[in-house]
Amino acid sequence: MLLENKVNLGFFPTPLHLLPRLSEKYPDYTVYIKRDDQTGLASGGNKTRKLEYLIHEARRQNCNTVITAGAQQSNHCRQTAAACAATGLECHLILGGSEPSRYDGNLLLSYLLGAHIHFSGENRKGEDLVWLKSKLKKDGKRIYTIPYGGSNISGAMGFINAVGELKQQLAQARLNIDYIFFASSSGGTQAGLMLGRELFEMNFELIPINIDKSETEESSLKQAVLNILSDGKRVLGIQNNYQIADIAVVKDYDKAGYGVITENEIFAIKELATTEGVILDPVYTARAFYGMVDFLRNKKIPAGSNVIFWHTGGLPATFHYADQLKSNT
Ligand SMILES: Cc1ncc(COP(=O)(O)O)c(C=O)c1O
Repeated sequence: MLLENKVNLGFFPTPLHLLPRLSEKYPDYTVYIKRDDQTGLASGGNKTRKLEYLIHEARRQNCNTVITAGAQQSNHCRQTAAACAATGLECHLILGGSEPSRYDGNLLLSYLLGAHIHFSGENRKGEDLVWLKSKLKKDGKRIYTIPYGGSNISGAMGFINAVGELKQQLAQARLNIDYIFFASSSGGTQAGLMLGRELFEMNFELIPINIDKSETEESSLKQAVLNILSDGKRVLGIQNNYQIADIAVVKDYDKAGYGVITENEIFAIKELATTEGVILDPVYTARAFYGMVDFLRNKKIPAGSNVIFWHTGGLPATFHYADQLKSNT
């Protein structure tokens, strides 16, 4: 499995640009942004990179139906629905909770993109994928299962490749980067960035901000990242012997729980929107950006550092959380 084994679904390279007014506000640092909110596939996001490899796999295995799972406002599911539409595959999504009376945000887009939607109550992390696969198989469909978040080695290839893309952009701009902040949840983005850093011999430090508190008990996110790293080592012939201790996860900003919008997320959205005209999503990137600002304000990384905020998308969820983001009280 090589980096060229993919279908083209997105717009790459995504822009890398300075955040001049934000950098002025935090003058000890120079802050850049990597715009994976501009990757395409029904409003962008990090999953486009993963899906280029996952859909390639589905086609290689001669599948005609893709199944995956997530929360009702899953960006991953919306982007999978878009990728399937663009490549002529049937898409089935298993989404947590029960059917709402009103569709909005990512759920509305997944519906408009033609996905078959199955509601699964408490199960929002793919617990019902095996059941759905055997049901659809009986109907004669050839199924490709994408795991929760698109996080396996195939999906992570997208972010290995992304590091190569970044390396070229940095070389062209004659720029050196010290730290990359991003939202980490199911682990594929993080594992891909770690493997890519190794493969492309880069020396930035990754600061993954944990999003889902329930992922962190007994370090299950770290374990998920480690599993993908082990597969990546094998596939790419990387020598590094990764250990759990090598995997950073910042858990300081996830206390409210997954999908709960606090004043921190609202601050982050307004901060980037009003200084740079860039919109963060309330669930992932706002939490990660708040974490980054906390690091900068409290000088948790050395002054003079060059920093990238890797914007991983999620815009449609903003409209689902309208009441929390603009309350009338
Ligand atoms: C907008 C956004 N950012 C970040 C992530 C986290 O990526 P990963 O699941 O690869 O850790 C997700 C995952 O759904 C996402 O939707």
